[in-house]
Amino acid sequence: MDLSITVNGMKFPNPFVLGSGPPGTNARVLAKSFEAGWGGAVAKTVSLESAKVVNVVPRYGKLRSRRTGEVIGFENIELISDRPIDVWLEEFRQVKKEFPNHILIASIMEEYEKSRWQELTRMVQDTGVDGFELNFSCPHGMTERKMGSEMGEHPDLTEEVTSWVTEVATIPVWAKMTPNITNIREPAQAAVSGGAVGISAINTILSVIGVDLDTLRPMPTVEGHCVPGGYSAQAVRPIALRMVSQLALGLPDGISISGIGGIENSHDALEFMLLGASTVQICTGVMLQGVKMIDELIAGVEKFMVDKGFDSVEEVVGKSLPYFSTHMDLVQKMKTAKRSKAGEASRDNEWAQKDITEKTAELTSN
Ligand SMILES: Cc1cc2nc3c(=O)[nH]c(=O)nc-3n(C[C@H](O)[C@H](O)[C@H](O)COP(=O)(O)O)c2cc1C
Repeated sequence: MDLSITVNGMKFPNPFVLGSGPPGTNARVLAKSFEAGWGGAVAKTVSLESAKVVNVVPRYGKLRSRRTGEVIGFENIELISDRPIDVWLEEFRQVKKEFPNHILIASIMEEYEKSRWQELTRMVQDTGVDGFELNFSCPHGMTERKMGSEMGEHPDLTEEVTSWVTEVATIPVWAKMTPNITNIREPAQAAVSGGAVGISAINTILSVIGVDLDTLRPMPTVEGHCVPGGYSAQAVRPIALRMVSQLALGLPDGISISGIGGIENSHDALEFMLLGASTVQICTGVMLQGVKMIDELIAGVEKFMVDKGFDSVEEVVGKSLPYFSTHMDLVQKMKTAKRSKAGEASRDNEWAQKDITEKTAELTSN
């Protein structure tokens, strides 16, 4: 079955893309994932001076289900790539040469200086990568150099820096959003005004994964101390879905969306596509399950398309968006359906008449 989709002129063999992070951290892992069947990859974010990037250990933390131990949430305080740009340029060339039909997107980040952003854009573009993703969204560490979400939290900076890149870029430019803002449409619209043709959403959500009750130290603990980090994995999915839907409903036509956040299988990927994402990116899911998770992603989406009678991935994109409405309209629709009594029967004074857990279950949809 053909799962290909063309987005901003880039033909993805399928909509499954490695999200920027450990799964795309060097040519070897990128090659492995393309061999396994991934349609595209956003490589780990690169900058001009890797010597300034120094990571700490440990840098990950997990939130587990109390009952089963399954990983629900994942926090990281990892920085962008600590590998020299010259090595990266060589590897971008090598991967593109070896896999001309897979889409390779370079994620770039720099300090607030036009010449630095434009120099990085030019040198990376010369390697033959298919597109750029501008990292305006890493919420920790890089922010101390006024990079990442320090830019993405300010729409004026987002627009200005995007325009520096699009001034010299000859390939499509996506901008990756931070969720640590009030209204996702503002920075996204700013990036579009700066010339971005795609929006990637979301990066990680600022978080503290826990506190060790023996040592009283917040985690992940490095030499007894800690900084808040970025939250990912399945716990963030509902927030990411909401933001993707707001983008899909609010951005001008022709602006693509790459959906990211807590995708672990084909079901999750389809949710993002139905809410307007034409590609989906996965980072933590790959870290926890390995690149072979692509087999289930492909099989699951194929089965869904056959079952529901979709002929192309493009037809799936945004299919659930018309079902968003307003609260007032939902009340009106219940009235029309002669179900307004359902609302009457569950007014707030009913809560004392039954056990609170029973009442909660009665009002829950799934
Ligand atoms: C360990 C780790 C490192 C990451 N590094 C980057 C990075 O270098 N650049 C970037 O844009 N996003 C980075 N991210 C964010 C992911 O690409 C993604 O936006 C986020 O984790 C949510 O998706 P997920 O739940 O599939 O991981 C990183 C995430 C993790 C967990």
